[in-house]
Amino acid sequence: MSDSFEIFTVKVLPAGLQYDVEGDLSLLEAADMSRVQLPSSCRNGTCRTCLSRLVSGEVTYTIEWPGLSAEEKAEGYVLPCVARPLTHVVLEQPDASAC
Ligand code: FES
Repeated sequence: MSDSFEIFTVKVLPAGLQYDVEGDLSLLEAADMSRVQLPSSCRNGTCRTCLSRLVSGEVTYTIEWPGLSAEEKAEGYVLPCVARPLTHVVLEQPDASAC
């Protein structure tokens, strides 16, 4: 049996952009490779520039303490620079654009 990675689709609202995440890439890294521009700065989960809302789907984090409060997590906010998808996901990020 092969150990191939699953490929998950990310849809970004409200622009309706779409890209795939393969392997162990973060939502932000995969967007970069797909010519979808998400806001970013530190890329390590601290600055919160990339803060987006997860409309549907599930993510896991590459770091133990991403810079989100418990309330923000409960409201569905995620940090795409350190989040990996576990399912297909829909993100809400009004500043996303195609590049
Ligand atoms: S780019 Fe800084 S928290 Fe994501």
